[in-house]
Amino acid sequence: MKPIRELLKEIAHSSEPDRAVTEHAYQGFSDSEKKDFQQKGLTVYAGKVRELIRTENELLIYHTDRLSAFDRFIGLVPYKGSILAEISQYWLEAAAEVVPTHFLSRPHERVLRCISCTPYKVEVVVRGYMAGSMMRAYQKGVREFCGVKLPEGLEPYRSLPAPIITPTTKAAAFEHDEDATPEQLVQQGVCTKEEWQQISRMALDLFHFGQKKYAEKGWILVDTKYEFGRDAQGQIRLIDEIHTPDSSRLWVKDNYETNLARGDAPEMLDKETVRRYLLEQGFSGQGAVPTVPVSRLVALAETYLKVAETLTGRPLMSVGPLARTPLVQ
Ligand code: C5P
Repeated sequence: MKPIRELLKEIAHSSEPDRAVTEHAYQGFSDSEKKDFQQKGLTVYAGKVRELIRTENELLIYHTDRLSAFDRFIGLVPYKGSILAEISQYWLEAAAEVVPTHFLSRPHERVLRCISCTPYKVEVVVRGYMAGSMMRAYQKGVREFCGVKLPEGLEPYRSLPAPIITPTTKAAAFEHDEDATPEQLVQQGVCTKEEWQQISRMALDLFHFGQKKYAEKGWILVDTKYEFGRDAQGQIRLIDEIHTPDSSRLWVKDNYETNLARGDAPEMLDKETVRRYLLEQGFSGQGAVPTVPVSRLVALAETYLKVAETLTGRPLMSVGPLARTPLVQ
Protein backbone atom coordinates (compact mmCIF):
# COMPACT_ATOMS: atom_id res chain seq x y z
CA MET A 1 0.00 0.00 0.00
CA LYS A 2 1.36 3.39 -0.99
CA PRO A 3 -0.14 6.88 -0.87
CA ILE A 4 -1.23 7.91 -4.37
CA ARG A 5 0.25 11.35 -3.67
CA GLU A 6 3.74 9.75 -3.51
CA LEU A 7 3.15 7.60 -6.60
CA LEU A 8 2.19 10.71 -8.59
CA LYS A 9 5.38 12.46 -7.44
CA GLU A 10 7.43 9.48 -8.63
CA ILE A 11 5.78 9.70 -12.08
CA ALA A 12 6.28 13.46 -12.32
CA HIS A 13 9.98 13.17 -11.42
CA SER A 14 10.69 10.09 -13.49
CA SER A 15 13.34 10.37 -16.23
CA GLU A 16 10.78 8.97 -18.71
CA PRO A 17 7.42 10.38 -17.58
CA ASP A 18 5.50 9.06 -20.64
CA ARG A 19 6.65 5.54 -19.90
CA ALA A 20 5.93 5.95 -16.18
CA VAL A 21 2.33 6.97 -16.97
CA THR A 22 1.81 3.92 -19.18
CA GLU A 23 3.29 1.66 -16.50
CA HIS A 24 1.08 3.06 -13.72
CA ALA A 25 -2.14 3.80 -15.56
CA TYR A 26 -4.99 1.30 -15.78
CA GLN A 27 -6.31 1.29 -19.34
CA GLY A 28 -9.21 -1.13 -18.93
CA PHE A 29 -9.91 -4.76 -19.75
CA SER A 30 -7.60 -6.51 -22.18
CA ASP A 31 -9.16 -8.40 -25.10
CA SER A 32 -8.43 -11.72 -23.40
CA GLU A 33 -10.11 -10.56 -20.19
CA LYS A 34 -13.19 -9.48 -22.15
CA LYS A 35 -13.31 -12.86 -23.86
CA ASP A 36 -12.91 -14.60 -20.53
CA PHE A 37 -15.81 -12.62 -19.00
CA GLN A 38 -18.02 -13.34 -21.99
CA GLN A 39 -17.24 -17.06 -21.79
CA LYS A 40 -18.47 -16.91 -18.18
CA GLY A 41 -21.79 -15.53 -19.51
CA LEU A 42 -21.15 -12.02 -18.16
CA THR A 43 -22.09 -8.89 -20.07
CA VAL A 44 -19.21 -6.46 -20.60
CA TYR A 45 -19.63 -2.79 -21.59
CA ALA A 46 -16.82 -0.38 -22.41
CA GLY A 47 -17.69 3.25 -21.70
CA LYS A 48 -15.57 6.35 -22.26
CA VAL A 49 -13.80 6.06 -18.94
CA ARG A 50 -15.34 3.12 -17.14
CA GLU A 51 -15.92 -0.50 -18.02
CA LEU A 52 -18.79 -2.48 -16.62
CA ILE A 53 -19.51 -6.10 -15.94
CA ARG A 54 -23.13 -7.03 -15.38
CA THR A 55 -24.06 -10.19 -13.52
CA GLU A 56 -27.67 -11.17 -12.87
CA ASN A 57 -28.29 -8.73 -10.03
CA GLU A 58 -25.12 -6.72 -9.76
CA LEU A 59 -22.95 -4.35 -11.70
CA LEU A 60 -19.20 -4.03 -11.24
CA ILE A 61 -17.88 -0.65 -12.36
CA TYR A 62 -14.17 -0.61 -13.20
CA HIS A 63 -12.73 2.91 -13.23
CA THR A 64 -9.96 3.22 -15.80
CA ASP A 65 -7.43 6.06 -16.01
CA ARG A 66 -8.72 7.22 -19.39
CA LEU A 67 -9.56 10.91 -19.68
CA SER A 68 -12.31 12.06 -22.01
CA ALA A 69 -13.17 15.64 -22.97
CA PHE A 70 -15.42 16.94 -25.75
CA ASP A 71 -16.58 13.29 -25.96
CA ARG A 72 -13.13 12.16 -27.19
CA PHE A 73 -10.31 10.13 -25.63
CA ILE A 74 -7.60 12.60 -24.56
CA GLY A 75 -5.00 10.56 -22.69
CA LEU A 76 -4.19 8.63 -19.50
CA VAL A 77 -4.29 10.30 -16.11
CA PRO A 78 -2.49 7.99 -13.66
CA TYR A 79 -4.65 6.83 -10.71
CA LYS A 80 -7.62 8.88 -11.89
CA GLY A 81 -9.78 5.73 -11.71
CA SER A 82 -8.88 5.05 -8.07
CA ILE A 83 -9.42 8.70 -7.16
CA LEU A 84 -12.80 8.90 -8.91
CA ALA A 85 -13.95 5.65 -7.30
CA GLU A 86 -13.04 7.16 -3.89
CA ILE A 87 -14.99 10.37 -4.64
CA SER A 88 -17.99 8.45 -6.01
CA GLN A 89 -18.07 6.16 -2.98
CA TYR A 90 -17.93 9.17 -0.67
CA TRP A 91 -20.84 10.87 -2.46
CA LEU A 92 -22.92 7.75 -3.04
CA GLU A 93 -22.79 6.97 0.69
CA ALA A 94 -23.55 10.59 1.60
CA ALA A 95 -26.35 10.91 -0.99
CA ALA A 96 -28.17 7.89 0.43
CA GLU A 97 -29.82 10.32 2.85
CA VAL A 98 -31.32 12.19 -0.13
CA VAL A 99 -32.23 9.50 -2.72
CA PRO A 100 -31.87 5.71 -3.12
CA THR A 101 -28.57 4.91 -4.86
CA HIS A 102 -27.13 1.84 -6.57
CA PHE A 103 -24.01 1.58 -4.38
CA LEU A 104 -23.25 -1.69 -2.51
CA SER A 105 -19.51 -1.88 -1.81
CA ARG A 106 -16.00 -1.20 -3.15
CA PRO A 107 -14.11 -4.50 -3.54
CA HIS A 108 -10.99 -2.83 -5.02
CA GLU A 109 -9.85 0.81 -5.06
CA ARG A 110 -10.89 1.02 -8.73
CA VAL A 111 -14.10 -0.98 -8.56
CA LEU A 112 -17.59 -0.23 -7.25
CA ARG A 113 -20.11 -3.05 -6.72
CA CYS A 114 -23.61 -1.79 -7.38
CA ILE A 115 -27.22 -2.92 -7.71
CA SER A 116 -27.97 -3.69 -11.34
CA CYS A 117 -30.49 -1.14 -12.67
CA THR A 118 -32.02 -0.47 -16.08
CA PRO A 119 -30.67 3.00 -16.92
CA TYR A 120 -32.82 5.83 -18.24
CA LYS A 121 -31.04 6.94 -21.39
CA VAL A 122 -30.69 10.54 -20.32
CA GLU A 123 -27.87 12.55 -18.77
CA VAL A 124 -29.52 14.81 -16.24
CA VAL A 125 -27.31 17.92 -16.31
CA VAL A 126 -28.03 20.43 -13.53
CA ARG A 127 -26.50 23.91 -13.77
CA GLY A 128 -26.26 26.53 -11.05
CA TYR A 129 -23.95 28.95 -12.87
CA MET A 130 -23.32 30.39 -16.32
CA ALA A 131 -20.48 28.16 -17.50
CA GLY A 132 -19.36 25.56 -20.00
CA SER A 133 -21.30 24.76 -23.15
CA MET A 134 -24.25 26.89 -21.96
CA MET A 135 -22.04 29.94 -21.49
CA ARG A 136 -20.53 29.48 -24.95
CA ALA A 137 -24.02 29.24 -26.51
CA TYR A 138 -25.42 32.13 -24.43
CA GLN A 139 -22.57 34.35 -25.62
CA LYS A 140 -23.61 33.49 -29.20
CA GLY A 141 -27.16 34.67 -28.47
CA VAL A 142 -28.94 31.44 -27.50
CA ARG A 143 -31.47 32.10 -24.73
CA GLU A 144 -33.43 28.86 -24.55
CA PHE A 145 -31.84 25.68 -23.20
CA CYS A 146 -33.79 22.40 -23.20
CA GLY A 147 -37.07 24.32 -22.94
CA VAL A 148 -35.79 26.68 -20.20
CA LYS A 149 -35.76 30.35 -21.20
CA LEU A 150 -32.99 32.43 -19.64
CA PRO A 151 -33.22 36.21 -19.16
CA GLU A 152 -31.00 38.72 -20.96
CA GLY A 153 -27.91 40.11 -19.26
CA LEU A 154 -26.60 37.03 -17.46
CA GLU A 155 -22.89 37.41 -16.75
CA PRO A 156 -20.27 34.73 -17.43
CA TYR A 157 -19.41 32.61 -14.35
CA ARG A 158 -22.22 34.17 -12.27
CA SER A 159 -24.93 32.11 -10.61
CA LEU A 160 -28.22 31.59 -12.45
CA PRO A 161 -31.45 32.94 -10.92
CA ALA A 162 -32.09 29.30 -9.87
CA PRO A 163 -30.52 25.94 -10.84
CA ILE A 164 -31.84 24.57 -14.12
CA ILE A 165 -31.89 21.11 -15.68
CA THR A 166 -30.62 20.72 -19.25
CA PRO A 167 -31.02 17.01 -20.05
CA THR A 168 -29.16 15.36 -22.91
CA THR A 169 -30.05 12.05 -24.50
CA LYS A 170 -27.22 9.58 -24.13
CA ALA A 171 -25.28 8.74 -27.26
CA ALA A 172 -22.97 5.74 -27.71
CA ALA A 173 -19.41 6.08 -26.36
CA PHE A 174 -17.49 8.88 -28.13
CA GLU A 175 -20.56 10.27 -29.91
CA HIS A 176 -22.04 13.63 -28.96
CA ASP A 177 -25.04 13.77 -26.66
CA GLU A 178 -28.10 15.75 -27.84
CA ASP A 179 -29.95 18.39 -25.80
CA ALA A 180 -33.60 17.54 -25.17
CA THR A 181 -36.65 19.15 -23.60
CA PRO A 182 -38.62 17.09 -21.04
CA GLU A 183 -41.40 16.75 -23.68
CA GLN A 184 -38.90 15.31 -26.17
CA LEU A 185 -37.67 12.82 -23.56
CA VAL A 186 -41.24 11.60 -23.08
CA GLN A 187 -41.95 11.55 -26.85
CA GLN A 188 -38.74 9.56 -27.46
CA GLY A 189 -39.80 7.02 -24.84
CA VAL A 190 -36.81 7.75 -22.56
CA CYS A 191 -39.14 8.02 -19.54
CA THR A 192 -42.75 8.84 -18.72
CA LYS A 193 -43.86 12.30 -17.62
CA GLU A 194 -44.29 11.01 -14.06
CA GLU A 195 -40.83 9.42 -14.08
CA TRP A 196 -39.31 12.69 -15.32
CA GLN A 197 -41.04 14.59 -12.51
CA GLN A 198 -39.51 12.18 -10.01
CA ILE A 199 -36.06 12.18 -11.67
CA SER A 200 -35.87 15.96 -11.99
CA ARG A 201 -36.93 16.43 -8.34
CA MET A 202 -34.23 13.94 -7.25
CA ALA A 203 -31.63 15.70 -9.41
CA LEU A 204 -32.41 19.14 -7.93
CA ASP A 205 -32.41 17.74 -4.37
CA LEU A 206 -29.02 16.12 -5.01
CA PHE A 207 -27.65 19.32 -6.53
CA HIS A 208 -28.66 21.41 -3.50
CA PHE A 209 -27.18 18.73 -1.22
CA GLY A 210 -23.94 18.70 -3.24
CA GLN A 211 -23.65 22.50 -3.35
CA LYS A 212 -24.12 22.73 0.41
CA LYS A 213 -21.57 20.03 1.23
CA TYR A 214 -18.96 21.27 -1.25
CA ALA A 215 -19.44 24.83 0.08
CA GLU A 216 -18.46 23.52 3.54
CA LYS A 217 -15.13 22.46 1.96
CA GLY A 218 -14.64 25.87 0.32
CA TRP A 219 -15.75 24.88 -3.18
CA ILE A 220 -18.60 25.79 -5.52
CA LEU A 221 -20.46 22.97 -7.26
CA VAL A 222 -21.13 24.81 -10.53
CA ASP A 223 -22.85 22.14 -12.59
CA THR A 224 -22.95 18.39 -12.75
CA LYS A 225 -24.49 15.40 -14.44
CA TYR A 226 -26.61 12.67 -12.84
CA GLU A 227 -27.90 9.38 -14.17
CA PHE A 228 -30.80 7.33 -12.89
CA GLY A 229 -32.02 3.78 -13.33
CA ARG A 230 -34.76 1.47 -12.17
CA ASP A 231 -33.97 -1.62 -10.08
CA ALA A 232 -35.72 -5.01 -10.32
CA GLN A 233 -38.36 -3.82 -7.82
CA GLY A 234 -39.12 -0.70 -9.89
CA GLN A 235 -37.37 1.70 -7.50
CA ILE A 236 -35.69 4.69 -9.21
CA ARG A 237 -32.07 4.94 -8.03
CA LEU A 238 -29.16 7.28 -8.63
CA ILE A 239 -26.64 5.32 -10.70
CA ASP A 240 -23.20 6.06 -12.14
CA GLU A 241 -20.70 8.50 -10.64
CA ILE A 242 -21.79 11.51 -8.65
CA HIS A 243 -20.28 14.96 -8.00
CA THR A 244 -16.85 13.88 -9.27
CA PRO A 245 -14.59 16.43 -10.98
CA ASP A 246 -15.08 14.34 -14.15
CA SER A 247 -18.83 14.86 -14.14
CA SER A 248 -18.98 18.29 -12.47
CA ARG A 249 -17.45 21.73 -12.54
CA LEU A 250 -15.91 22.77 -9.23
CA TRP A 251 -14.58 26.24 -8.47
CA VAL A 252 -12.68 27.61 -5.49
CA LYS A 253 -14.96 29.80 -3.33
CA ASP A 254 -12.31 31.89 -1.55
CA ASN A 255 -10.95 33.77 -4.57
CA TYR A 256 -14.12 33.58 -6.73
CA GLU A 257 -15.11 37.25 -6.27
CA THR A 258 -11.56 38.61 -6.58
CA ASN A 259 -10.89 36.57 -9.73
CA LEU A 260 -14.10 37.81 -11.37
CA ALA A 261 -13.45 41.42 -10.30
CA ARG A 262 -10.03 41.16 -12.02
CA GLY A 263 -11.74 39.88 -15.15
CA ASP A 264 -10.32 36.37 -14.67
CA ALA A 265 -12.13 33.05 -14.71
CA PRO A 266 -12.72 31.33 -11.35
CA GLU A 267 -10.05 28.90 -10.10
CA MET A 268 -11.13 25.50 -11.36
CA LEU A 269 -10.64 22.15 -9.67
CA ASP A 270 -12.02 20.06 -12.48
CA LYS A 271 -10.95 18.96 -15.94
CA GLU A 272 -11.89 22.38 -17.32
CA THR A 273 -8.16 23.23 -17.22
CA VAL A 274 -7.53 20.45 -19.76
CA ARG A 275 -10.60 21.48 -21.80
CA ARG A 276 -9.20 25.03 -21.95
CA TYR A 277 -5.76 23.77 -22.95
CA LEU A 278 -7.38 21.82 -25.80
CA LEU A 279 -9.43 24.86 -26.89
CA GLU A 280 -6.22 26.92 -26.92
CA GLN A 281 -4.76 24.31 -29.30
CA GLY A 282 -7.81 24.84 -31.55
CA PHE A 283 -9.47 21.56 -30.55
CA SER A 284 -13.13 21.37 -29.57
CA GLY A 285 -13.94 17.77 -30.43
CA GLN A 286 -13.30 17.54 -34.17
CA GLY A 287 -10.15 16.31 -35.89
CA ALA A 288 -6.96 14.97 -34.34
CA VAL A 289 -6.65 15.23 -30.55
CA PRO A 290 -3.61 17.35 -29.54
CA THR A 291 -1.09 15.67 -27.20
CA VAL A 292 -1.55 16.90 -23.65
CA PRO A 293 1.82 17.11 -21.81
CA VAL A 294 2.28 14.53 -19.02
CA SER A 295 2.90 17.33 -16.51
CA ARG A 296 -0.65 18.60 -17.15
CA LEU A 297 -2.14 15.12 -16.82
CA VAL A 298 -0.32 14.49 -13.52
CA ALA A 299 -1.38 17.96 -12.31
CA LEU A 300 -4.99 16.98 -13.07
CA ALA A 301 -4.58 13.76 -11.04
CA GLU A 302 -3.20 15.86 -8.15
CA THR A 303 -6.20 18.20 -8.33
CA TYR A 304 -8.64 15.28 -8.31
CA LEU A 305 -6.70 13.76 -5.39
CA LYS A 306 -7.03 17.01 -3.46
CA VAL A 307 -10.81 16.86 -3.92
CA ALA A 308 -10.92 13.21 -2.76
CA GLU A 309 -8.69 13.66 0.27
CA THR A 310 -10.42 16.86 1.39
CA LEU A 311 -13.83 15.19 1.16
CA THR A 312 -12.86 12.03 3.03
CA GLY A 313 -10.25 13.60 5.32
CA ARG A 314 -7.76 10.75 4.77
CA PRO A 315 -4.88 10.01 2.38
CA LEU A 316 -5.84 7.79 -0.52
CA MET A 317 -3.72 4.64 -0.78
CA SER A 318 -3.14 2.34 -3.72
CA VAL A 319 -2.81 -1.41 -3.28
CA GLY A 320 -1.33 -1.68 -6.77
CA PRO A 321 -2.61 -2.98 -10.08
CA LEU A 322 -5.83 -4.92 -10.45
CA ALA A 323 -5.00 -8.61 -10.63
CA ARG A 324 -6.39 -10.23 -13.77
CA THR A 325 -10.13 -11.05 -13.48
CA PRO A 326 -10.04 -10.85 -9.69
CA LEU A 327 -13.60 -9.99 -8.83
CA VAL A 328 -15.82 -12.30 -10.84
CA GLN A 329 -15.45 -16.05 -10.72
O1 C5P B 1 -19.96 20.81 -21.12
P1 C5P B 1 -21.24 21.21 -20.45
O2 C5P B 1 -21.22 22.62 -19.95
O3 C5P B 1 -22.45 20.93 -21.30
O4 C5P B 1 -21.38 20.26 -19.16
C1 C5P B 1 -22.30 20.50 -18.12
C2 C5P B 1 -21.97 19.61 -16.92
O5 C5P B 1 -22.32 18.24 -17.19
C3 C5P B 1 -20.49 19.58 -16.56
O6 C5P B 1 -20.36 19.52 -15.15
C4 C5P B 1 -19.98 18.32 -17.20
O7 C5P B 1 -18.86 17.81 -16.51
C5 C5P B 1 -21.19 17.39 -17.10
N1 C5P B 1 -21.28 16.46 -18.23
C6 C5P B 1 -20.88 15.13 -18.06
N2 C5P B 1 -20.95 14.24 -19.10
C7 C5P B 1 -21.41 14.62 -20.28
C8 C5P B 1 -21.83 15.96 -20.50
C9 C5P B 1 -21.74 16.85 -19.44
O8 C5P B 1 -20.48 14.74 -16.96
N3 C5P B 1 -21.47 13.73 -21.28
